[in-house]
Amino acid sequence: DPALIAAGATVFKKCSSCHKVGEGAKNAVGPTLNGIVGHDAGTVEGFKYSNPLLAMAEAGLVWDEANLNAFLENPRSFMKGTRMAFAGLKSEDERSAVIAYLASLGG
Ligand code: HEM
Repeated sequence: DPALIAAGATVFKKCSSCHKVGEGAKNAVGPTLNGIVGHDAGTVEGFKYSNPLLAMAEAGLVWDEANLNAFLENPRSFMKGTRMAFAGLKSEDERSAVIAYLASLGG
């Protein structure tokens, strides 16, 4: 849905201080997020993840829509000890929009 993706691009401004996307994106405070939807957690090359994130990745965490939705609602309750210092997106509309935007990006 192009309108949802466009809304998600606006929501992504809350993420872009830490996460870069698009061609030539580099890791910053957070890892690049191209192709993240449906992808195994903790596998962006060259990014140094926290131990809690690596432990959940080792246990099989995949960033499908349900897991992204739960993480983005409250990162620190979904993942105790994460280094992602972000309060979360309380609005379900914002979460679904930003997930649609991320899903629209190439890997
Ligand atoms: C990790 C998304 C906001 C810093 C992640 C991951 C996702 C994500 C999906 C896991 C990546 C992976 O497993 O490879 C988002 C979205 C945001 C957002 C959609 C906005 C709604 C932020 C902000 C910051 C930040 C504002 C910085 C203040 C980080 C860091 C990690 C991370 C440091 C690694 C966490 C760890 O190793 O525990 N983010 N993020 N993120 N993000 Fe964000």
